[in-house]
Amino acid sequence: MSNAFVTGGSRGIGRSIVLRYVSEGWGVAFTYSSNKEAADRTLEMAREIRPDARVQAYQLNLSDEDAIDKVCEQAIDDFENITAVVNNAAILKDNAAALMSNEEWKDVVSVNLTAPFLVSRNFLLHFLSNRKGRLIHVSSLAAYGSSGQVNYAASKAGLQGMSLTIAKEYGKKGITSNIVTVGYVPTAMTEENMNKQLQEYWLKHCPARRVGTPEEIASAVYYLSSDEASFISGEDLRISAGLTYAP
Ligand SMILES: NC(=O)c1ccc[n+]([C@@H]2O[C@H](COP(=O)([O-])OP(=O)(O)OC[C@H]3O[C@@H](n4cnc5c(N)ncnc54)[C@H](OP(=O)(O)O)[C@@H]3O)[C@@H](O)[C@H]2O)c1
Repeated sequence: MSNAFVTGGSRGIGRSIVLRYVSEGWGVAFTYSSNKEAADRTLEMAREIRPDARVQAYQLNLSDEDAIDKVCEQAIDDFENITAVVNNAAILKDNAAALMSNEEWKDVVSVNLTAPFLVSRNFLLHFLSNRKGRLIHVSSLAAYGSSGQVNYAASKAGLQGMSLTIAKEYGKKGITSNIVTVGYVPTAMTEENMNKQLQEYWLKHCPARRVGTPEEIASAVYYLSSDEASFISGEDLRISAGLTYAP
């Protein structure tokens, strides 16, 4: 049986990724930060899909570097063989560049970029011993620049360099590293942080004239985790129905 590790699997896109793996027969270790109720709901939904599903939730604050090592080690101990790792969790702390505080910058870079690196580093050692592994990092159109989001944009752009480097360093070891760049998918993140004007902008400029669904993102993540994607690495798959630009 294949197993996956997903950060931020309690809600939104991460939950759909967990449920997609479960529906494909995979075991899943996923993390949440503080919303235990949401994590329990993901577990419940997973068992509704497959009563015998092997799914486990781990509390993890991704700004705690020691805790990242501990949880990754624990998940590897519990599941023994993990094939795919999805760096999905991220936060926003928006502000204009000139007004952004050191904390706003550091908090976002720590959760959105440093943590994915630390998670990847932990699992690379595991992948190397298995001579197989898939890393998938969830990015945003903001990586190409996004007003009011200099910290978030920089963290997501940083994932690109990280993913491409890992793809080059470990390709010969059977390890792939790819990015999925998400357009607009309504979740708590967008509902709490995007104003109406911006939501309307996305809808107006998205060639499909609709928002995406978490399931559509999960489907691409699952494909990149599968054996069918074994020759795809160092790619950035944009999932935005042709929308290429953040204002
Ligand atoms: N939604 C969009 O339109 C959109 C667009 C572009 C890119 N993305 C990207 O898609 C990914 C998922 O976004 P989403 O919209 O599904 O977000 P979301 O609904 O806000 O869910 C965030 C997840 O991350 C976890 N999390 C938050 N802060 C954390 C921390 N400090 N440490 C560990 N985990 C933490 C949350 O756990 P709790 O439940 O415990 O809080 C939750 O599981 C992110 O990388 C985001 O940048 C989303």
